[in-house]
Amino acid sequence: MLILGIESSCDETGVALYDTEEGLLSHALHSQIAMHGEYGGVVPELASRDHIRRVLPLSREVLAKSKRTLQQIDGIAYTKGPGLAGALLVGASVAASLGYALKKPVIGVHHLEGHLLSPLLSKRAPGFPFLALLVSGGHTQLVRVEGLGQYELLGDTLDDAAGEAFDKTAKLLGLGYPGGAALSRLAEKGNPSRFRLPRPMINSGDLDFSFSGLKTAALTLVKSHPDLDEQTRADIARAFQDAIVEVLVKKAKDAAKRSNLERLVVAGGVSANSELRRRLDSSRLDVYYPELEFCTDNGAMIAYAGALRFLSGALPEKDFAVRARWDLFSA
Ligand code: KG4
Ligand code: ZN
Repeated sequence: MLILGIESSCDETGVALYDTEEGLLSHALHSQIAMHGEYGGVVPELASRDHIRRVLPLSREVLAKSKRTLQQIDGIAYTKGPGLAGALLVGASVAASLGYALKKPVIGVHHLEGHLLSPLLSKRAPGFPFLALLVSGGHTQLVRVEGLGQYELLGDTLDDAAGEAFDKTAKLLGLGYPGGAALSRLAEKGNPSRFRLPRPMINSGDLDFSFSGLKTAALTLVKSHPDLDEQTRADIARAFQDAIVEVLVKKAKDAAKRSNLERLVVAGGVSANSELRRRLDSSRLDVYYPELEFCTDNGAMIAYAGALRFLSGALPEKDFAVRARWDLFSA
């Protein structure tokens, strides 16, 4: 079964072709980061317009790279939500039109299910059940994954998501948007013992997170150093990253203990963070990550999740719909 996957929930247009026998055939991505960077954040209207410009050329590109034709596609998967409504509508309308023209079924995929399953695209893929730490720009969740569509939420953030905290702190340090990866690179040069930031909720006894106080603590530190030189910026970045990573690792370990699962999947943009990977790899957990190119938003995870859904007998979409807000646990 050959599935075309389309991701357009935020600021990346991703398209991929996944074959249920041969695996991922090809994928293509256009990131809008440079376009939104000027404004310090994603501008929804610009995002939608850019998805419109990119989605068909990227689709042609993956077909050409895979030496397949449109007529060979057996089904189409698109990101149905959550995300920016206008951006989601671009992927949804292209998927619905292609499905109509080709007389092939179309399925709407939950963006977070795509992230959760993305490590299964790796050579070293985890088997079910596993624990998942989902750390993206919009989410910080600990999830028990029993199988496809069987997700139990164990912990969640009470305020900012991990990626959001990285981005806001990066902005304070003048690193542009989204600054998670740049902050992480700067932190490599930082002195770990110069500053210490709080580890919010580390001993709260539950599996929830809170990062808005950490960002405020970073702001206070920035304000108390008006001459913010390069080394001080690196030291603050280091203190911030050490704090957030320590909380994420501690809660992941707690969740593993509580749920009696040693297998941990880390997915979403922040799973690209090298300090987080270092710390988790030196823990006793059996940790799995997506390939680096599939940590942030991409079409491959949507094609893959769609393929699994089709194989499991999920019914195709009857109408053309997106869900800007969509809870995975009531999906
Ligand atoms: O999963 P994703 O592409 O989008 C959402 O679905 O939200 O995640 C994007 C987030 C951004 O906040 C970005 O700064 C963060 O992932 N990110 C990182 C790194 N690479 C991306 N955060 C920390 N360290 C990184 N290396
Ligand atoms: Zn995402």
